[in-house]
Amino acid sequence: MNLIASLTRTELGRGLWTFRTEFLWVGLFSLVANLLMLTPTLYMLQVFDRVMLSQSEVTLIAVTLVMVLFTVVMAVAEWVRSRLLVRAGVRFDEALNARVFDASFSAHLAQDGASATRAFSDLTNLRQFLTGNGVFAFFDLPWMPIYLAVLFLMHPLLGWAGIVFTLLLIMLAIGSHLMTARLHERASDSELQANSYLGGKLRHAEAVESMGMLPNLRRRWIGLVATQFHRREQSHEQQHRMQAVGKFMQYSQQSLILALGAWLAIRGEISLGAMIASNALMSNALRPISSLVGTWKQFVEARQAYSRLDKVISDYPDGGRYHSAEHVTGQIELRQLVALAPGSDTQILKGLNLEFRPGEVVGIVGPSGAGKSTLARCLIGVWPSTRGQMLLDGVDISKWDRDRLGPHIGYLPQDIELLEGTVAENICRFGEIDSDAVIEAAKRAGIHEMVQHLPQGYDTSLGQAGGLLSGGQRQRLALARALYGMPDLVVLDEPNANLDDVGEVALMKAIVELKQAGKTVFMVLHQRNLLALADRVLVLNNGTVAQFGVMDVTARPDALPQPRTA
Ligand SMILES: Nc1ncnc2c1ncn2[C@@H]1O[C@H](COP(=O)(O)OP(=O)(O)O)[C@@H](O)[C@H]1O
Ligand SMILES: [Mg+2]
Repeated sequence: MNLIASLTRTELGRGLWTFRTEFLWVGLFSLVANLLMLTPTLYMLQVFDRVMLSQSEVTLIAVTLVMVLFTVVMAVAEWVRSRLLVRAGVRFDEALNARVFDASFSAHLAQDGASATRAFSDLTNLRQFLTGNGVFAFFDLPWMPIYLAVLFLMHPLLGWAGIVFTLLLIMLAIGSHLMTARLHERASDSELQANSYLGGKLRHAEAVESMGMLPNLRRRWIGLVATQFHRREQSHEQQHRMQAVGKFMQYSQQSLILALGAWLAIRGEISLGAMIASNALMSNALRPISSLVGTWKQFVEARQAYSRLDKVISDYPDGGRYHSAEHVTGQIELRQLVALAPGSDTQILKGLNLEFRPGEVVGIVGPSGAGKSTLARCLIGVWPSTRGQMLLDGVDISKWDRDRLGPHIGYLPQDIELLEGTVAENICRFGEIDSDAVIEAAKRAGIHEMVQHLPQGYDTSLGQAGGLLSGGQRQRLALARALYGMPDLVVLDEPNANLDDVGEVALMKAIVELKQAGKTVFMVLHQRNLLALADRVLVLNNGTVAQFGVMDVTARPDALPQPRTA
């Protein structure tokens, strides 16, 4: 089957496919519930035609008891299928949450911001639809023909009326889909746009406020919000119009079928019981369709959520990262490494061929915009879009199991990102807090004293992005995090950018210690004062290697370092 094939083709599809047993059971209980939904109809027929004719109280009691029993079973069946779906929902979250978390993280890394932020609301949306009441409409739908068949049995005209009403409702459903889906999608898009615009600006509130950018930003934001409201309004208006038409059809149909029944009864073609029963039967037959019309919006949203989620999960697959090793030597080889700007073909690094020895300390210098930070990110394997190869210990960095490689890597980004949490949590990378190792790393980065003077020492909570600390303090805290556990490959991107003399001395000491411990260290530098610690120096210019070799210590002190070829 096409649907099954498409389900098992992608990872998300396969994830959903594991819920087939649950849905089979839901289908089974839907069958029971739907069959028993005929109870009131049959009961009415019995009461009107048999009980009233025979005037027998015993018959009345008997059919009433049977009716109550069936109705109870029906209610239980409905309850069980809801329970099944709620359970499936919990399992759905458990099965996919972690995967979506990873994928949205990777999406963020690849600067695919929209996918990253949308993934979770999409997951919620999909789960709510699949495990909510809306999905029952789909399970009840196959029973519609049976109700219609019973109508035909009562009288062909009743059957035909049922079919006409059903077709009208289906046309309404399709029409309302055609008219509202596009509007609704556009409204959600502009809502997301306005929200991410606001979020982005809030993060830089100080700069915005101090330099009087607020009125300009506000004007743009109000523009975005106005578009959003306008589209939302359009889509709501359309939806309400369709709902009004739906209501009219639903209520008029009920009465019209009664009128038809009454006419047939007057002509003696059906009994009075059948007249009443056909009315009940008709509303049964139309119920799934009208609830489908009601939940159509949810369905469309869930389908969009599914395809977006499917795309994120497929775009950022989990597999292929299987390599891990007890010891990492930090031997690195770049083969024709090209780094592309995310989402474009612009080359930032233009085919680097380089080899670095284990335990080597490499200085990376070059003018601003040369690609130093990009190279640093390539070295630790987080640059999203590369060609060629970057081998760590002979294995492509993309093949390494990141979770296991993490402890072997120390990275100090140029834009320091501290996470919300305590000082100790930030240093130990949010793992189990090993106090000794935390203090050791803090001492290496020269912040032990500083931390002790914080209000709660190592347990002091940093606000968002470490707001409590000064630039230099943040940098040294990030250095402590990079040094935590003495990792084998350490990449420092302008580690001394915000440091005072004391901080720089601590940094130098830390690099010497790493060197003595045989760790491989890369340091991107914008000043020459730390270059003396480097075994070799790489000069980058415009994404290519300008020079690479042992630094000539006899060079003029104010000149750019002039490495000799090694
Ligand atoms: N996310 C990005 N998208 C597009 N271009 C980028 C991105 N990051 C960096 N670049 C470009 O790549 C070049 C190198 O940047 P970078 O590696 O940060 O330089 P450096 O660290 O040497 O100053 C710059 O021209 C910059 O504009
Ligand atoms: Mg940089």
